[in-house]
Amino acid sequence: MPSPIDDSLQARISPECPQETRDILYHAWGHDRSGLKKLLNERGKASIQDPRTGETPLHAAIRACGPADEPTEGEEEQEEDGSVEEAREVIQDLFLNGAIWNDVDANNETPGCVAYRLGRKALYNLCVDAGVRAELLFALMDGYEELSSGEEEDDNEDADEVMAEQEEAAAAAATAAAEAKAQDGDVDAEEPLKFIPPDANEIPVTSEEYLKSKLTYDDDKLLDSDLNGVMMAWETDIMRRSVAALIPGEEQGKRVLNIGFGMGIIDGMFADLKPSKHHIIEAHPAVLEHISKPDSKFGSEWEKSGPEEGAYKVFVGKWQDVVLQLLEQGELYDAIYFDTFGEDYSQLRTFFMEHVPGLLDQEGRFSFFNGLGADRRICYDVYTKVVEMHCADAGLDVEWEESDVDMEKLDEDGEGEWKGVRRRYWTLDKYRLPVCTFMG
Ligand SMILES: C[S@@+](CC[C@H](N)C(=O)[O-])C[C@H]1O[C@@H](n2cnc3c(N)ncnc32)[C@H](O)[C@@H]1O
Repeated sequence: MPSPIDDSLQARISPECPQETRDILYHAWGHDRSGLKKLLNERGKASIQDPRTGETPLHAAIRACGPADEPTEGEEEQEEDGSVEEAREVIQDLFLNGAIWNDVDANNETPGCVAYRLGRKALYNLCVDAGVRAELLFALMDGYEELSSGEEEDDNEDADEVMAEQEEAAAAAATAAAEAKAQDGDVDAEEPLKFIPPDANEIPVTSEEYLKSKLTYDDDKLLDSDLNGVMMAWETDIMRRSVAALIPGEEQGKRVLNIGFGMGIIDGMFADLKPSKHHIIEAHPAVLEHISKPDSKFGSEWEKSGPEEGAYKVFVGKWQDVVLQLLEQGELYDAIYFDTFGEDYSQLRTFFMEHVPGLLDQEGRFSFFNGLGADRRICYDVYTKVVEMHCADAGLDVEWEESDVDMEKLDEDGEGEWKGVRRRYWTLDKYRLPVCTFMG
Protein backbone atom coordinates (compact mmCIF):
# COMPACT_ATOMS: atom_id res chain seq x y z
CA MET A 1 0.00 0.00 0.00
CA PRO A 2 1.45 3.42 -0.91
CA SER A 3 1.76 5.70 2.13
CA PRO A 4 -0.93 8.38 2.36
CA ILE A 5 -0.02 11.74 0.90
CA ASP A 6 1.08 14.42 3.35
CA ASP A 7 -0.62 17.62 2.16
CA SER A 8 0.89 19.91 4.80
CA LEU A 9 2.76 23.07 3.84
CA GLN A 10 5.89 21.77 5.59
CA ALA A 11 5.85 18.60 3.51
CA ARG A 12 5.20 20.35 0.22
CA ILE A 13 7.66 23.27 0.32
CA SER A 14 11.02 21.67 0.89
CA PRO A 15 14.04 23.10 2.72
CA GLU A 16 15.91 23.03 -0.62
CA CYS A 17 13.35 25.27 -2.32
CA PRO A 18 15.04 28.44 -3.60
CA GLN A 19 13.78 31.63 -1.96
CA GLU A 20 12.14 33.02 -5.09
CA THR A 21 10.17 29.83 -5.70
CA ARG A 22 9.32 29.58 -2.01
CA ASP A 23 7.86 33.12 -2.03
CA ILE A 24 5.59 32.32 -4.96
CA LEU A 25 4.45 29.04 -3.45
CA TYR A 26 3.74 30.67 -0.06
CA HIS A 27 1.67 33.42 -1.65
CA ALA A 28 -0.27 30.88 -3.73
CA TRP A 29 -0.83 28.73 -0.63
CA GLY A 30 -2.01 31.79 1.33
CA HIS A 31 -4.35 32.82 -1.53
CA ASP A 32 -2.72 36.23 -1.41
CA ARG A 33 -3.83 37.42 -4.80
CA SER A 34 -2.25 40.87 -4.87
CA GLY A 35 1.05 39.68 -3.37
CA LEU A 36 1.21 36.83 -5.87
CA LYS A 37 0.46 39.06 -8.85
CA LYS A 38 3.55 41.14 -8.08
CA LEU A 39 5.70 38.01 -8.16
CA LEU A 40 4.34 36.69 -11.45
CA ASN A 41 5.79 39.50 -13.50
CA GLU A 42 8.14 37.30 -15.49
CA ARG A 43 7.32 34.59 -18.01
CA GLY A 44 7.42 31.09 -16.56
CA LYS A 45 6.97 32.17 -12.95
CA ALA A 46 3.43 30.78 -12.73
CA SER A 47 4.75 27.28 -13.40
CA ILE A 48 7.82 27.17 -11.14
CA GLN A 49 8.22 23.96 -9.13
CA ASP A 50 9.71 23.08 -5.78
CA PRO A 51 12.83 21.12 -6.81
CA ARG A 52 12.11 18.24 -4.45
CA THR A 53 8.32 17.96 -4.20
CA GLY A 54 7.38 19.35 -7.61
CA GLU A 55 4.79 21.62 -5.96
CA THR A 56 3.60 24.31 -8.39
CA PRO A 57 1.62 27.42 -7.41
CA LEU A 58 -1.52 25.68 -8.75
CA HIS A 59 -0.93 22.65 -6.54
CA ALA A 60 -0.35 24.97 -3.59
CA ALA A 61 -3.48 27.08 -4.13
CA ILE A 62 -5.63 23.95 -4.36
CA ARG A 63 -3.96 21.96 -1.58
CA ALA A 64 -4.31 24.88 0.83
CA CYS A 65 -8.12 24.40 0.76
CA GLY A 66 -7.75 20.99 2.44
CA PRO A 67 -10.28 18.20 2.00
CA ALA A 68 -13.92 19.14 1.39
CA ASP A 69 -16.52 18.13 3.99
CA GLU A 70 -18.61 15.13 3.09
CA PRO A 71 -21.93 16.32 1.62
CA THR A 72 -24.68 16.18 4.26
CA GLU A 73 -27.62 13.89 3.65
CA GLY A 74 -29.86 14.98 0.80
CA GLU A 75 -27.16 17.23 -0.64
CA GLU A 76 -25.61 16.21 -3.97
CA GLU A 77 -22.41 18.16 -3.40
CA GLN A 78 -20.92 19.84 -0.37
CA GLU A 79 -21.24 23.59 0.13
CA GLU A 80 -18.09 25.41 -0.97
CA ASP A 81 -16.30 27.21 1.85
CA GLY A 82 -14.68 30.67 1.58
CA SER A 83 -11.21 29.31 0.87
CA VAL A 84 -12.44 27.79 -2.38
CA GLU A 85 -13.64 31.15 -3.69
CA GLU A 86 -10.23 32.67 -2.89
CA ALA A 87 -8.45 29.72 -4.46
CA ARG A 88 -10.57 30.01 -7.59
CA GLU A 89 -9.42 33.61 -8.14
CA VAL A 90 -5.79 32.74 -7.54
CA ILE A 91 -6.02 29.78 -9.93
CA GLN A 92 -7.55 31.96 -12.62
CA ASP A 93 -4.72 34.49 -12.19
CA LEU A 94 -2.19 31.67 -12.46
CA PHE A 95 -3.73 30.32 -15.66
CA LEU A 96 -3.76 33.83 -17.13
CA ASN A 97 -0.05 34.01 -16.35
CA GLY A 98 0.73 30.77 -18.15
CA ALA A 99 0.47 28.13 -15.38
CA ILE A 100 0.54 24.62 -16.84
CA TRP A 101 -2.57 22.57 -16.07
CA ASN A 102 -0.94 19.13 -16.23
CA ASP A 103 2.47 19.45 -14.54
CA VAL A 104 2.84 16.54 -12.14
CA ASP A 105 4.39 16.70 -8.69
CA ALA A 106 6.53 14.06 -6.98
CA ASN A 107 3.35 12.13 -6.07
CA ASN A 108 2.56 11.99 -9.79
CA GLU A 109 -0.45 14.26 -9.24
CA THR A 110 -1.46 17.19 -11.44
CA PRO A 111 -3.16 20.11 -9.69
CA GLY A 112 -6.47 18.69 -10.94
CA CYS A 113 -5.66 15.29 -9.42
CA VAL A 114 -5.13 16.99 -6.05
CA ALA A 115 -8.44 18.86 -6.40
CA TYR A 116 -10.25 15.62 -7.23
CA ARG A 117 -8.68 13.69 -4.34
CA LEU A 118 -9.62 16.47 -1.90
CA GLY A 119 -13.20 16.53 -3.21
CA ARG A 120 -12.84 20.10 -4.51
CA LYS A 121 -15.07 19.71 -7.55
CA ALA A 122 -15.21 23.41 -8.51
CA LEU A 123 -11.42 23.64 -8.56
CA TYR A 124 -11.16 20.36 -10.44
CA ASN A 125 -13.48 21.79 -13.10
CA LEU A 126 -11.26 24.88 -13.45
CA CYS A 127 -8.34 22.57 -14.20
CA VAL A 128 -10.39 20.56 -16.71
CA ASP A 129 -11.39 23.76 -18.50
CA ALA A 130 -7.76 24.89 -18.65
CA GLY A 131 -6.82 21.49 -20.09
CA VAL A 132 -9.50 21.79 -22.76
CA ARG A 133 -8.28 25.26 -23.75
CA ALA A 134 -4.69 24.03 -23.96
CA GLU A 135 -5.59 20.97 -26.04
CA LEU A 136 -7.73 22.99 -28.45
CA LEU A 137 -4.87 25.40 -28.90
CA PHE A 138 -2.40 22.57 -29.51
CA ALA A 139 -4.74 21.16 -32.13
CA LEU A 140 -4.82 24.50 -33.90
CA MET A 141 -1.05 24.94 -33.74
CA ASP A 142 -0.57 21.46 -35.15
CA GLY A 143 -2.74 22.48 -38.08
CA TYR A 144 -0.78 25.68 -38.65
CA GLU A 145 2.48 23.75 -38.56
CA GLU A 146 1.20 21.32 -41.16
CA LEU A 147 0.08 24.15 -43.40
CA SER A 148 3.45 25.83 -43.32
CA SER A 149 5.71 22.78 -43.33
CA GLY A 150 5.57 22.21 -47.08
CA GLU A 151 7.01 18.98 -48.39
CA GLU A 152 6.86 15.59 -46.82
CA GLU A 153 10.61 15.50 -46.35
CA ASP A 154 10.35 18.49 -44.04
CA ASP A 155 7.66 16.71 -42.03
CA ASN A 156 9.92 13.74 -41.55
CA GLU A 157 12.80 15.96 -40.56
CA ASP A 158 10.53 17.68 -38.03
CA ALA A 159 9.43 14.33 -36.64
CA ASP A 160 13.04 13.14 -36.45
CA GLU A 161 14.06 16.30 -34.66
CA VAL A 162 11.22 15.92 -32.15
CA MET A 163 12.19 12.28 -31.58
CA ALA A 164 15.85 13.22 -31.12
CA GLU A 165 14.90 15.99 -28.69
CA GLN A 166 12.63 13.64 -26.76
CA GLU A 167 15.34 11.02 -26.54
CA GLU A 168 17.89 13.61 -25.44
CA ALA A 169 15.51 14.97 -22.80
CA ALA A 170 14.77 11.46 -21.54
CA ALA A 171 18.49 10.64 -21.36
CA ALA A 172 19.20 13.88 -19.48
CA ALA A 173 16.31 13.19 -17.12
CA ALA A 174 17.57 9.65 -16.53
CA THR A 175 21.06 10.92 -15.65
CA ALA A 176 19.65 13.60 -13.36
CA ALA A 177 17.32 11.07 -11.71
CA ALA A 178 20.25 8.71 -11.10
CA GLU A 179 22.26 11.56 -9.58
CA ALA A 180 19.35 12.58 -7.40
CA LYS A 181 18.98 9.00 -6.18
CA ALA A 182 22.67 8.68 -5.44
CA GLN A 183 22.54 11.85 -3.42
CA ASP A 184 19.26 11.12 -1.65
CA GLY A 185 19.46 12.21 1.95
CA ASP A 186 22.50 14.32 1.25
CA VAL A 187 20.94 17.76 1.15
CA ASP A 188 23.79 19.97 0.06
CA ALA A 189 24.83 22.13 -2.84
CA GLU A 190 25.16 19.09 -5.13
CA GLU A 191 21.38 18.55 -5.06
CA PRO A 192 19.86 19.07 -8.55
CA LEU A 193 17.75 22.19 -8.52
CA LYS A 194 15.33 21.18 -11.21
CA PHE A 195 12.36 18.99 -10.36
CA ILE A 196 12.31 15.69 -12.25
CA PRO A 197 8.79 14.35 -12.73
CA PRO A 198 8.22 10.68 -11.83
CA ASP A 199 7.40 9.82 -15.45
CA ALA A 200 10.48 11.58 -16.93
CA ASN A 201 11.92 8.33 -18.25
CA GLU A 202 8.80 7.26 -20.09
CA ILE A 203 9.38 7.35 -23.83
CA PRO A 204 6.11 7.55 -25.72
CA VAL A 205 5.36 4.82 -28.25
CA THR A 206 5.40 6.16 -31.78
CA SER A 207 3.50 4.71 -34.70
CA GLU A 208 6.65 4.32 -36.78
CA GLU A 209 8.49 2.37 -34.06
CA TYR A 210 5.43 0.28 -33.23
CA LEU A 211 4.82 -0.77 -36.81
CA LYS A 212 8.42 -2.06 -36.98
CA SER A 213 8.37 -3.82 -33.61
CA LYS A 214 8.06 -7.56 -32.99
CA LEU A 215 4.71 -8.63 -31.56
CA THR A 216 3.76 -11.48 -29.27
CA TYR A 217 0.27 -12.96 -29.15
CA ASP A 218 -0.89 -15.02 -26.20
CA ASP A 219 -4.41 -16.04 -25.21
CA ASP A 220 -5.28 -12.87 -23.42
CA LYS A 221 -3.06 -10.19 -24.87
CA LEU A 222 -1.04 -8.82 -27.74
CA LEU A 223 2.25 -7.17 -26.72
CA ASP A 224 4.85 -5.23 -28.68
CA SER A 225 8.60 -5.76 -28.20
CA ASP A 226 8.70 -3.20 -25.35
CA LEU A 227 5.95 -5.16 -23.57
CA ASN A 228 3.35 -2.47 -24.22
CA GLY A 229 -0.16 -3.88 -24.24
CA VAL A 230 -1.41 -3.40 -27.80
CA MET A 231 -4.68 -5.19 -27.06
CA MET A 232 -5.87 -7.10 -23.99
CA ALA A 233 -8.71 -9.52 -23.45
CA TRP A 234 -10.11 -7.51 -20.51
CA GLU A 235 -11.38 -5.07 -23.16
CA THR A 236 -13.75 -7.71 -24.56
CA ASP A 237 -16.73 -6.28 -22.68
CA ILE A 238 -15.97 -2.83 -24.10
CA MET A 239 -15.81 -4.31 -27.62
CA ARG A 240 -19.18 -6.03 -27.04
CA ARG A 241 -20.78 -2.80 -25.87
CA SER A 242 -19.27 -0.96 -28.84
CA VAL A 243 -20.80 -3.41 -31.32
CA ALA A 244 -24.18 -3.09 -29.57
CA ALA A 245 -23.95 0.71 -29.75
CA LEU A 246 -22.92 0.71 -33.42
CA ILE A 247 -25.45 -1.88 -34.55
CA PRO A 248 -28.45 -1.58 -32.26
CA GLY A 249 -30.76 -4.60 -32.13
CA GLU A 250 -27.97 -6.83 -33.52
CA GLU A 251 -29.31 -6.18 -36.99
CA GLN A 252 -27.79 -8.32 -39.72
CA GLY A 253 -26.64 -7.19 -43.15
CA LYS A 254 -24.95 -3.93 -42.12
CA ARG A 255 -21.91 -2.40 -43.85
CA VAL A 256 -19.02 -2.37 -41.40
CA LEU A 257 -15.53 -0.84 -41.40
CA ASN A 258 -13.10 -1.69 -38.60
CA ILE A 259 -9.72 -0.01 -38.33
CA GLY A 260 -7.14 -2.00 -36.34
CA PHE A 261 -7.52 -5.81 -36.12
CA GLY A 262 -5.42 -6.47 -32.98
CA MET A 263 -6.78 -9.70 -31.50
CA GLY A 264 -9.76 -9.68 -33.84
CA ILE A 265 -12.14 -9.48 -30.89
CA ILE A 266 -14.44 -6.84 -32.31
CA ASP A 267 -14.18 -8.28 -35.82
CA GLY A 268 -15.36 -11.66 -34.48
CA MET A 269 -18.40 -9.90 -33.01
CA PHE A 270 -19.11 -7.97 -36.22
CA ALA A 271 -18.78 -11.18 -38.24
CA ASP A 272 -21.38 -12.90 -36.01
CA LEU A 273 -23.89 -10.30 -37.25
CA LYS A 274 -23.42 -11.42 -40.86
CA PRO A 275 -22.70 -8.01 -42.31
CA SER A 276 -23.28 -7.35 -46.01
CA LYS A 277 -19.88 -5.67 -46.11
CA HIS A 278 -17.06 -6.15 -43.62
CA HIS A 279 -13.84 -4.27 -44.29
CA ILE A 280 -10.84 -4.37 -41.97
CA ILE A 281 -7.77 -2.14 -42.19
CA GLU A 282 -4.56 -3.39 -40.61
CA ALA A 283 -0.98 -2.12 -40.96
CA HIS A 284 1.25 -4.30 -38.78
CA PRO A 285 3.01 -7.13 -40.67
CA ALA A 286 2.86 -9.46 -37.65
CA VAL A 287 -0.88 -8.91 -37.23
CA LEU A 288 -1.37 -9.51 -40.95
CA GLU A 289 0.64 -12.73 -40.67
CA HIS A 290 -1.55 -13.79 -37.74
CA ILE A 291 -4.66 -13.07 -39.83
CA SER A 292 -3.42 -15.17 -42.73
CA LYS A 293 -2.64 -18.28 -40.63
CA PRO A 294 -4.65 -21.38 -41.62
CA ASP A 295 -6.61 -21.37 -38.34
CA SER A 296 -7.51 -17.68 -38.62
CA LYS A 297 -11.18 -16.77 -38.88
CA PHE A 298 -10.37 -13.89 -41.22
CA GLY A 299 -8.07 -15.52 -43.79
CA SER A 300 -8.69 -16.02 -47.50
CA GLU A 301 -11.65 -18.40 -46.91
CA TRP A 302 -13.44 -15.66 -45.01
CA GLU A 303 -12.71 -13.15 -47.77
CA LYS A 304 -14.21 -15.58 -50.30
CA SER A 305 -17.31 -16.15 -48.14
CA GLY A 306 -18.65 -12.61 -48.57
CA PRO A 307 -21.94 -11.96 -50.40
CA GLU A 308 -19.96 -10.54 -53.31
CA GLU A 309 -16.34 -10.11 -54.30
CA GLY A 310 -14.56 -7.59 -52.11
CA ALA A 311 -17.41 -7.46 -49.59
CA TYR A 312 -15.31 -9.18 -46.92
CA LYS A 313 -11.76 -7.92 -47.09
CA VAL A 314 -8.66 -7.15 -45.03
CA PHE A 315 -7.02 -4.04 -46.47
CA VAL A 316 -3.28 -4.11 -45.91
CA GLY A 317 -1.61 -0.85 -44.92
CA LYS A 318 -1.98 2.18 -42.76
CA TRP A 319 -5.51 3.57 -42.55
CA GLN A 320 -4.06 6.95 -43.55
CA ASP A 321 -3.43 5.46 -47.01
CA VAL A 322 -6.22 2.89 -47.25
CA VAL A 323 -9.10 5.27 -46.50
CA LEU A 324 -8.15 7.33 -49.53
CA GLN A 325 -8.66 4.24 -51.66
CA LEU A 326 -12.00 3.50 -49.95
CA LEU A 327 -13.19 7.05 -50.52
CA GLU A 328 -12.15 6.85 -54.14
CA GLN A 329 -14.12 3.59 -54.50
CA GLY A 330 -17.14 5.38 -53.01
CA GLU A 331 -17.48 2.91 -50.12
CA LEU A 332 -20.11 3.78 -47.49
CA TYR A 333 -20.60 2.19 -44.10
CA ASP A 334 -23.36 1.91 -41.50
CA ALA A 335 -20.87 1.29 -38.70
CA ILE A 336 -17.26 2.44 -38.40
CA TYR A 337 -15.00 1.51 -35.50
CA PHE A 338 -11.52 2.96 -34.93
CA ASP A 339 -9.00 1.39 -32.55
CA THR A 340 -5.35 1.71 -33.51
CA PHE A 341 -2.19 1.70 -31.43
CA GLY A 342 0.84 3.99 -31.11
CA GLU A 343 -1.07 6.96 -32.50
CA ASP A 344 -2.00 10.08 -30.59
CA TYR A 345 -5.25 12.02 -30.49
CA SER A 346 -4.31 14.09 -33.54
CA GLN A 347 -4.59 10.96 -35.70
CA LEU A 348 -8.02 10.05 -34.38
CA ARG A 349 -9.09 13.67 -34.85
CA THR A 350 -7.88 13.64 -38.45
CA PHE A 351 -9.80 10.44 -39.05
CA PHE A 352 -13.16 11.65 -37.77
CA MET A 353 -12.87 15.21 -38.99
CA GLU A 354 -11.55 14.49 -42.47
CA HIS A 355 -12.67 10.98 -43.37
CA VAL A 356 -15.74 9.94 -41.38
CA PRO A 357 -17.93 12.50 -43.18
CA GLY A 358 -17.09 10.83 -46.50
CA LEU A 359 -17.26 7.20 -45.35
CA LEU A 360 -20.25 7.09 -43.02
CA ASP A 361 -23.80 6.70 -44.28
CA GLN A 362 -26.07 9.60 -43.30
CA GLU A 363 -27.82 7.31 -40.78
CA GLY A 364 -24.63 5.50 -39.76
CA ARG A 365 -22.74 5.40 -36.48
CA PHE A 366 -19.07 5.90 -35.68
CA SER A 367 -17.25 4.89 -32.51
CA PHE A 368 -13.67 4.47 -31.28
CA PHE A 369 -11.86 2.87 -28.39
CA ASN A 370 -11.92 5.65 -25.84
CA GLY A 371 -8.63 5.14 -24.09
CA LEU A 372 -7.68 8.79 -24.46
CA GLY A 373 -5.98 9.88 -21.25
CA ALA A 374 -7.35 6.80 -19.47
CA ASP A 375 -4.37 6.58 -17.14
CA ARG A 376 -5.48 9.79 -15.40
CA ARG A 377 -9.04 10.90 -14.66
CA ILE A 378 -8.52 14.57 -15.48
CA CYS A 379 -7.03 13.75 -18.87
CA TYR A 380 -9.99 11.49 -19.63
CA ASP A 381 -12.36 14.34 -18.73
CA VAL A 382 -10.39 16.85 -20.80
CA TYR A 383 -10.42 14.59 -23.87
CA THR A 384 -14.15 13.97 -23.50
CA LYS A 385 -14.80 17.69 -23.92
CA VAL A 386 -12.17 18.15 -26.65
CA VAL A 387 -13.64 15.27 -28.67
CA GLU A 388 -17.14 16.76 -28.34
CA MET A 389 -15.90 20.08 -29.71
CA HIS A 390 -13.96 18.61 -32.61
CA CYS A 391 -16.84 16.29 -33.47
CA ALA A 392 -19.21 19.26 -33.53
CA ASP A 393 -16.78 20.94 -35.92
CA ALA A 394 -17.07 17.91 -38.18
CA GLY A 395 -20.90 17.96 -37.97
CA LEU A 396 -21.06 15.00 -35.59
CA ASP A 397 -23.03 14.62 -32.36
CA VAL A 398 -21.46 12.50 -29.64
CA GLU A 399 -23.38 10.58 -27.02
CA TRP A 400 -21.45 8.90 -24.25
CA GLU A 401 -22.63 5.57 -22.87
CA GLU A 402 -21.02 5.12 -19.50
CA SER A 403 -20.43 1.64 -18.11
CA ASP A 404 -18.53 0.08 -15.20
CA VAL A 405 -15.10 -1.43 -15.70
CA ASP A 406 -14.39 -4.33 -13.39
CA MET A 407 -11.19 -3.10 -11.75
CA GLU A 408 -10.57 -6.16 -9.59
CA LYS A 409 -7.65 -7.33 -11.74
CA LEU A 410 -6.74 -3.92 -13.18
CA ASP A 411 -5.99 -2.00 -10.02
CA GLU A 412 -2.26 -2.52 -9.54
CA ASP A 413 0.77 -1.95 -11.76
CA GLY A 414 2.37 -5.24 -12.82
CA GLU A 415 -0.32 -7.35 -11.13
CA GLY A 416 -3.46 -9.19 -12.31
CA GLU A 417 -4.13 -8.37 -15.96
CA TRP A 418 -1.03 -6.15 -16.03
CA LYS A 419 1.39 -8.97 -15.23
CA GLY A 420 4.13 -8.81 -17.87
CA VAL A 421 2.75 -5.55 -19.30
CA ARG A 422 4.99 -2.50 -19.15
CA ARG A 423 2.46 0.24 -18.54
CA ARG A 424 -1.00 0.30 -16.97
CA TYR A 425 -2.83 2.27 -19.64
CA TRP A 426 -6.19 2.04 -17.90
CA THR A 427 -6.90 3.23 -14.34
CA LEU A 428 -10.57 4.25 -14.36
CA ASP A 429 -13.62 2.41 -13.06
CA LYS A 430 -15.93 3.81 -15.75
CA TYR A 431 -15.69 3.54 -19.53
CA ARG A 432 -17.20 6.32 -21.65
CA LEU A 433 -18.23 4.82 -24.96
CA PRO A 434 -18.63 7.38 -27.74
CA VAL A 435 -21.47 7.03 -30.23
CA CYS A 436 -21.13 9.59 -33.02
CA THR A 437 -23.87 10.35 -35.53
CA PHE A 438 -24.41 13.14 -38.02
CA MET A 439 -26.14 16.20 -36.56
CA GLY A 440 -29.76 17.00 -37.33
C1 LIG B 1 -5.75 -2.06 -30.06
S1 LIG B 1 -5.53 -3.01 -31.46
C2 LIG B 1 -7.16 -3.25 -32.04
C3 LIG B 1 -7.92 -4.23 -31.23
C4 LIG B 1 -9.27 -4.63 -31.81
N1 LIG B 1 -10.24 -3.60 -31.58
C5 LIG B 1 -9.75 -5.92 -31.22
O1 LIG B 1 -10.93 -6.00 -30.89
O2 LIG B 1 -8.96 -6.86 -31.08
C6 LIG B 1 -4.83 -1.89 -32.58
C7 LIG B 1 -4.55 -2.41 -33.96
O3 LIG B 1 -4.36 -1.30 -34.83
C8 LIG B 1 -3.30 -1.60 -35.72
N2 LIG B 1 -2.75 -0.32 -36.22
C9 LIG B 1 -1.96 0.57 -35.59
N3 LIG B 1 -1.73 1.64 -36.36
C10 LIG B 1 -2.40 1.43 -37.51
C11 LIG B 1 -2.56 2.21 -38.69
N4 LIG B 1 -2.01 3.40 -38.83
N5 LIG B 1 -3.32 1.71 -39.67
C12 LIG B 1 -3.92 0.48 -39.55
N6 LIG B 1 -3.81 -0.29 -38.46
C13 LIG B 1 -3.06 0.19 -37.44
C14 LIG B 1 -2.35 -2.35 -34.83
O4 LIG B 1 -1.38 -3.07 -35.56
C15 LIG B 1 -3.28 -3.23 -34.04
O5 LIG B 1 -3.53 -4.43 -34.71
